Amino acid sequence: MERTELPKVGFVGAGNMAEALVGGMRAAGWPGDRIAVTNRSNRARLASLAAQYGVLAFPEKRQLCDHAEVLVLAVKPKDVAEAVSQLQPHVRPHHRVFSVVAGLTLARLEEAFPGLPVVRAMPNTPSAVREGVTAYALGRHASGRDAELARVLFGSVGAVVEVPEERIDLVTGLSGSGPAYVFFLVESLIEAGVRAGLAPEVARDLVVQTVFGAARMLRETGEDPAELRRRVTSPGGTTMAGVGALEEHGVRGALVEAVRRATLRARELAS
Ligand SMILES: NC(=O)c1ccc[n+]([C@@H]2O[C@H](COP(=O)([O-])OP(=O)(O)OC[C@H]3O[C@@H](n4cnc5c(N)ncnc54)[C@H](OP(=O)(O)O)[C@@H]3O)[C@@H](O)[C@H]2O)c1
Repeated sequence: MERTELPKVGFVGAGNMAEALVGGMRAAGWPGDRIAVTNRSNRARLASLAAQYGVLAFPEKRQLCDHAEVLVLAVKPKDVAEAVSQLQPHVRPHHRVFSVVAGLTLARLEEAFPGLPVVRAMPNTPSAVREGVTAYALGRHASGRDAELARVLFGSVGAVVEVPEERIDLVTGLSGSGPAYVFFLVESLIEAGVRAGLAPEVARDLVVQTVFGAARMLRETGEDPAELRRRVTSPGGTTMAGVGALEEHGVRGALVEAVRRATLRARELAS
């Protein structure tokens, strides 16, 4: 999409996720006068986002709706009803509504904004460093342009995939919560290094670079992870001993269960 075709985007909610997206969009070259933010009451926060990222900050939803074509709902699930009712009087037929709110279904978005194109998206926090991944599902009135807009907007902060809506809860449990699983593994590896006698900073440097390097290898080679693992595991060697302990202690099963439980929880929250 040409720079001049980039739509004006208005964030309803100016918290962590909105900031990750705004920062990524700006770093990707999205013009600051095509991005606006609003929130409920924290005016200092609006001013600081405007100053830091060179975007527009509007205290009123009316001003945001007058400015933007794409409205991005980025409030906590508990605040959605209030934010939607405050938006409704200002929403016009040219608007499209994208939501990153966990559990907010396309059906509920379409009920709130009848006839409008709506998109339900699930980004994750590495979006803040432009290494996120977002899955999105399109509503009934959404067109190819909405899919393109979703790809451009969320693509500015990482990879993007389209999924049918019934997969969004699974995506929430897998890539939405996934950074926390990786952080948990990293914490555990650092702890193992420290317990065995390494200085905490040294253990951290070793582990963080190992995770980063392994992730880059996966992405850049496109190889099957099981194959990459086999290549560093010689029979009777050290890695085999370590991976054997992971198998014995059920780490694979634990991760499968983590994704299953997080998915179920996402489904519960949605209903
Ligand atoms: N963080 C993640 O990893 C992640 C990943 C995927 C999706 N999400 C989704 O992103 C959404 C936002 O999460 P977050 O971590 O960014 O939350 P957050 O940091 O708590 O920010 C929430 C924002 O919503 C604003 N808000 C509340 N009520 C509002 C209203 N009536 N009108 C306008 N703004 C209102 C708040 O404004 P005030 O400060 O003025 O109250 C605040 O700016 C959540 O629904 C979450 O499910 C988050």
